[in-house]
Amino acid sequence: MTSTRKSIHGQWSNRIVFILAATGSAVGLGNIWKFPYIAGENGGGTFVLVYLVCIALIGIPIMMAETMIGRRGRQSPINTMSTLAREEGRSPGWVMLGWMGVVAGFLILSYYSVIAGWALSYVFRTGSGAFLGVTTDGVNHIFTELVTDPERLLAWHTIFMVMTMIVVARGVKHGLEKAVRFLMPALLALLLMTVAYSMTTGHFMEGVEFLFTPGTISGQGVLIAMGHAFFTLSLGMGAIMVYGSYLPRHTSITQASIIIAIADTGVALLAGMAIFPIVFANGLEPGVGPGLIFKTLPIAFGHMEAGTMIGTAFFILLSFAAWTSAISLIEPAVAWLVENRGMNRIYASVWIGIFTWVLGIGSVLSFNLWSEHTWSVPFLFENKNFFDTLDFITANLMLPLGGLFIAIFAAWLMSENSTRDELNTNKFIFRIWHFLVKYITPIAVIIVFLNVIGVISL
Ligand code: PFF
Repeated sequence: MTSTRKSIHGQWSNRIVFILAATGSAVGLGNIWKFPYIAGENGGGTFVLVYLVCIALIGIPIMMAETMIGRRGRQSPINTMSTLAREEGRSPGWVMLGWMGVVAGFLILSYYSVIAGWALSYVFRTGSGAFLGVTTDGVNHIFTELVTDPERLLAWHTIFMVMTMIVVARGVKHGLEKAVRFLMPALLALLLMTVAYSMTTGHFMEGVEFLFTPGTISGQGVLIAMGHAFFTLSLGMGAIMVYGSYLPRHTSITQASIIIAIADTGVALLAGMAIFPIVFANGLEPGVGPGLIFKTLPIAFGHMEAGTMIGTAFFILLSFAAWTSAISLIEPAVAWLVENRGMNRIYASVWIGIFTWVLGIGSVLSFNLWSEHTWSVPFLFENKNFFDTLDFITANLMLPLGGLFIAIFAAWLMSENSTRDELNTNKFIFRIWHFLVKYITPIAVIIVFLNVIGVISL
């Protein structure tokens, strides 16, 4: 039966706005900061291949499922899950899926904001001309100086959280459209300029080969690649679900999901092609970890024509991209507080902001005072500090688990009448989607999990 529910939070004005907002959520630090460094740490080629396969076979179908569930429920993910579970005659326990997403959103934003703070601080570093003619040692020094200073990190983390709260308090829709409409093409242009610089380093093909020539990968590497497919597309925690709840009735979810996934993947691959040639041209290590882009791109900006200007613009845009992702991380929680606690958006954002900010202090300290405080969980990970642990638990466990449950709910528990009606796509595409979400996604996620804990060995 067709659902006629309306969202109390309003609706996107049209399809394009939804695509822009969801792309704004998807494209962020995950593409430009995280993808290159985890690809570097996990050996390149095969990692990238697994990631691309996961985007195609898991990411796009889950994005369709999440958007579809959101549009059908038309509320915050918590209330959407509880309404749909009731309507479909399923256990009220499904509301937990919404809750898990809210928790994942808090956890992710707490460290996301710290890294976004690095990007903000690099706007000023680059703008001041600090990277003109810089050497490898020089960039390393500037980076280390920043991350080993907890007060500076805390200040930038605070600034970023305040920026995020202001937008969330005003309502996600105001301003987002304009920001993203300008941001995406501009970011693309600057990335292309950096790729063009990388072509002049004489090591371009080495970088490309690193990214695209299959080699070996560990079971952990497969988990990280799959987790990243969820992280980069903002899936598995309700961000896309809540954006889907503002989607007009007749928009094609299939088309929108494919466009968003292609844009997101394109940005990540371009970032990789900009960064790895610089890595090899300067004798750097691909596996240096979270500092990778901050230790490579400034070298490009320090040596290219008009590099100070281009570099400053680049870090401004990166901060913007992080901003449009950050707001989607807490929209599910804010929407719930407004619906259930009758709070206005301003209060809701301030409370969530304070909570997330405090948690972020743990990540601030992970790069300096607490960097030696690490722990291991048998079968799962070894020697991770606070920041690495949060990243691992959210991106590699919570998001795929959320995705797994979304797949089970959409394909096994919702009636085909409901999903067919809401997706409103042609028969052939519906069949493929249903098959992928019913079998491929759950099986793939379960196999990767079992492989990591050593129950099976791939
Ligand atoms: N997709 C964002 C990125 O790649 O930076 C991060 C993110 C946003 C993850 C929203 C999850 C989410 F719900």
